[in-house]
Amino acid sequence: MDKIVIRGGERLIGEVEVSGSKNATLPIFASSLLAEGTHRFHNVPDLRDVRTIVEVLHNLGVQVSQEGRVYRIDATHVSNLEAPYDLVKTMRASILVLGPLVARMRRATVSLPGGCAIGARPINLHLMGLEAMGTKIDLRGGYVEARADRLKGADITFDIPTVTGTENLMMAAALAKGTTRLQNAAMEPEVVELANVLTEMGARINGAGTRLIEIEGVDSLQPVEHTIMPDRIEAGTLMVAAGLTRGNIKILNCPIRHMETVVAKLRESGMEIDPEEDGVRVVGTRRIRSVDVKTQPYPGFPTDMQAQFMVLMSLAKGLSIITETIFENRFIHVSELRRMGANIRIQGNTAIIQGVESLSGAEVMATDLRASASLVLAGLAADGLTKVSRVYHLDRGYEALDRKLAKLGADIKRVKEAD
Ligand code: EPU
Repeated sequence: MDKIVIRGGERLIGEVEVSGSKNATLPIFASSLLAEGTHRFHNVPDLRDVRTIVEVLHNLGVQVSQEGRVYRIDATHVSNLEAPYDLVKTMRASILVLGPLVARMRRATVSLPGGCAIGARPINLHLMGLEAMGTKIDLRGGYVEARADRLKGADITFDIPTVTGTENLMMAAALAKGTTRLQNAAMEPEVVELANVLTEMGARINGAGTRLIEIEGVDSLQPVEHTIMPDRIEAGTLMVAAGLTRGNIKILNCPIRHMETVVAKLRESGMEIDPEEDGVRVVGTRRIRSVDVKTQPYPGFPTDMQAQFMVLMSLAKGLSIITETIFENRFIHVSELRRMGANIRIQGNTAIIQGVESLSGAEVMATDLRASASLVLAGLAADGLTKVSRVYHLDRGYEALDRKLAKLGADIKRVKEAD
């Protein structure tokens, strides 16, 4: 198991490029199951979650080959219709193969994802939608067993917007007979990106990026060539890194048009964020101002940036309040940040943060993906040495974050430790 060791206090200076988006790659890879022939995807990030979805596809008999950032996926022959517990438990997004498999192969057995560090994260809305389209669902031995004839279009209303739920049902509806309406759908940019890929494949989709998506099913889809969009959460994480170190960095390939709420909050905190011709200039200032934040579905403030923003607020002047409305247990980073000297109180789904003058380096443990990013950020700003263990959480969703930060001047290195 690797550890990341950081000596805090270095200003970040220079240029850094954002990698392809994790949460766009995962549904897009799953969508390759909808068509025969070879898809080609560019700008695929090198992440543990990407390797997991590839394993899920391999296990279904799909051919996947990789050359650097380019993946070729050929799902002409699907020889197995099961996504086993061993894979789904390592990555919940494996559930994204359920919709495409039922739509094309009319049968699928997918392990129910278990609990998760950040919340219960049920999949009832995915299943409700598939049932409305004519799928018979049985839950047996920890697995979802799904069986259908050709799916039928349906009117589906989500109680709450769900990102992967919207994606799963959009993929299923693409091959259904008739029209599906997804009401109260997720509007995240990654949902729109998937809709674009499905449209390139020949699907008929209207309204992606709004609360009502209409999908008119077609009989078959074709493979595509597509470049994965940059990762807005990685870009936001790098911005916070600059803010915490009073840095001056240029972020290349930065999807700023999808980051309005995050950028507004960072500017409110005193940071300067200015689009330039070929990137986005981000400058941190001496005084961080306290700002309140409430996580919301897109276009609100993303829950995936909450932990990172909390580190910035830990060093702000004054009191800030962060409310988490998406996941019930997404404050697990707080106890580790407290060990570094942060003054944070939790009341229900609210964190009350009294900014402190400085954080001090400590040995801390990553517990989930965004929590681990927040600990690395805290280490960049802290006095002395921070050692973050269990960085496999970080590697699920950040491509070479340690190397990117080192190139910007951070004193950071990855060391092997005995298991
Ligand atoms: N929910 C239900 N029933 C369902 C589905 C969701 O009650 O059937 C609830 C969830 O428990 C949660 C809320 O709905 O309270 C929203 O969850 P959502 O389904 O939108 O989350 P997700 O699709 O499982 C994706 C991202 C997450 C990100 C969330 C919220 C992917 C692969 N994952 O998860 O990303 O936090 O949307 O934006 O797209 C991450 O990258 O670190 C990460 C956790």
